[in-house]
Amino acid sequence: MNYSKVTDWCHEVIRTQVKAGGFYIDATMGRGRDTLFLSRLAGEEGRVLAFDIQPEALKTTGELLKSSGMTGVEDGRIRLVLDGHESMDRYAKEHTADAVCFNFGYLPGGDHRISTSAKTSIPAIEKGLKILKPGGMMSLCIYSGGDTGFEEKEAVLACLKGLSPKEYTVIANEYYNRDNHPPMPVFVFKF
Ligand SMILES: C[S@@+](CC[C@H](N)C(=O)[O-])C[C@H]1O[C@@H](n2cnc3c(N)ncnc32)[C@H](O)[C@@H]1O
Repeated sequence: MNYSKVTDWCHEVIRTQVKAGGFYIDATMGRGRDTLFLSRLAGEEGRVLAFDIQPEALKTTGELLKSSGMTGVEDGRIRLVLDGHESMDRYAKEHTADAVCFNFGYLPGGDHRISTSAKTSIPAIEKGLKILKPGGMMSLCIYSGGDTGFEEKEAVLACLKGLSPKEYTVIANEYYNRDNHPPMPVFVFKF
């Protein structure tokens, strides 16, 4: 594992904390690296639901899955949805998902003006937490600074801080010795 890459770190924590062959949600598909990771974890038995609001994300992700030998899109085990993650409750029932993964921000190599925002990220987190099974986990990779600003990070952290410790454990990580607003990986474990 490359310990300096935030996505690798998030994948490693998910891999060690949730069972393989489950149901996983990628709330921010982007270029599909998280969808591919979750699809591999799902294997033949599991399921993946992935969301993005940009057709370009679905196209690139579909191509990545195909070139990586994933067959789940054809048989419906991997579903790529062109819709906002704030609507994820239309696609998944409460207490069904083993993991929900958020990687906030803009499409890498895409238009920086089309980005996740607190207005939709907070309802999506709240819905994702309901959709998680007891024993399931949420992973959130939070960016700030530059084009992204700080509003979403502050809103997400405030939302997570307010979760009852009787229902969830929230672990927020930091790249402690890095400058320039490094990404922040956060994990929520549901009892
Ligand atoms: C940092 S990228 C995700 C990276 C991705 N997981 C990957 O592995 O490449 C963030 C993505 O969130 C998407 N996004 C923005 N608002 C959204 C929303 N309301 N619902 C779902 N996706 C959204 C953007 O279009 C962008 O592709």
